Amino acid sequence: MTARRRTAILISGRGSNMAALLEAAANPEFPAEVVLVLSNKPGAGGLARAAEADVPTQVIDHRGFATRADFDTAVDEVLEAAGIELVVLAGFMRLLTPAFVEKWLGRMVNIHPSLLPSFKGVHVHEQALQAGVRFSGCTVHFVTADMDAGPIIGQAVVPVVPGDTADTLAARTLGAEHRLYPAAVGLVASGQARLEDGHTVYDGDAWTAVTLS
Ligand code: GRF
Repeated sequence: MTARRRTAILISGRGSNMAALLEAAANPEFPAEVVLVLSNKPGAGGLARAAEADVPTQVIDHRGFATRADFDTAVDEVLEAAGIELVVLAGFMRLLTPAFVEKWLGRMVNIHPSLLPSFKGVHVHEQALQAGVRFSGCTVHFVTADMDAGPIIGQAVVPVVPGDTADTLAARTLGAEHRLYPAAVGLVASGQARLEDGHTVYDGDAWTAVTLS
């Protein structure tokens, strides 16, 4: 077996996607090994869940830094010290500076709870309901300097049901996220999906693992 990619998961909150990834990575065959969970929020619920799974955690409180660049430098130092090869954003609610993004380009992924390029940013499910779409979903993408606009790695579709509220749509979407994210991180960690010339390319039919309906 080839070496597993040393992976850090960055969170700001409850960490349910992180938990799905930790579960997948508990299998030694999974190509990503989660060696660090890093939060910018001291109280993030995901920290306790990571500790329960015996994954090292670290808090870098963004409020302790004068600028975004200073915060990103501190994060980068921690990632380098841990020998991180792949950065997985999972509900990480900080915008990263272009320099940091450029450095990790092709080695940093994010999940967003809509079918991008629709409904970027926040209040995503409200945006989807307001637009009246019949399908929503989630997207895993490489992180680039433009928020929620990097090359798409995979998507999962969920129906929008009459009577949905932002909460019910979020819950249904979250279930899809928990299936999609481990599949997508697995492909990127194994090199079966990668960033080339601004586009995602796949080995063979690997894309089918991250095209979910
Ligand atoms: C998820 O919906 C994710 O798509 C978005 O933030 C939420 C994080 O949830 N980026 P969790 O912390 O993984 O439970």
